Amino acid sequence: MKIFIINGPNLNMLGKREPEIYGADTLESINAELKELCDSIGVEPEFYQSNCEGELIDIIHSAREKADGIVLNAGAYTHYSIAIRDAISACEKPCVEVHLSNVHKREEFRHKSVISAVCEGVICGFGKDSYRLAILALAGK
Ligand code: DQA
Repeated sequence: MKIFIINGPNLNMLGKREPEIYGADTLESINAELKELCDSIGVEPEFYQSNCEGELIDIIHSAREKADGIVLNAGAYTHYSIAIRDAISACEKPCVEVHLSNVHKREEFRHKSVISAVCEGVICGFGKDSYRLAILALAGK
């Protein structure tokens, strides 16, 4: 089983960016841990990060042919990108929406997600474990 693990805008800044909210780990170290988890359960991960909406859309489109599922932290695009929502629908692969922080405990504009309705499920608030839980859910473990 192949899974695309996709991170959107500003997530390349993890470790430096508001560590009290997002934790001290870098995206690189989180991805290294996720790779170990994937290896241990026979999942093949591919990691992507982009700050550009169009690039994220291209990556999601490519999952249609190349992946069995998607773990997506769309960052702030979660809250307003209808284009990313449409890409998830067009991809026709199960997608799990993830967030490091519990967006419902934060500012009101983060309470709304325009992508949840086209995702299989949503995991938020568990820091880097949100990604682990999403991978296990997609893998059916
Ligand atoms: C985030 C939450 C979003 O509201 C925010 O814009 C992010 C990160 C999270 O992982 O908690 O960039 O998706």
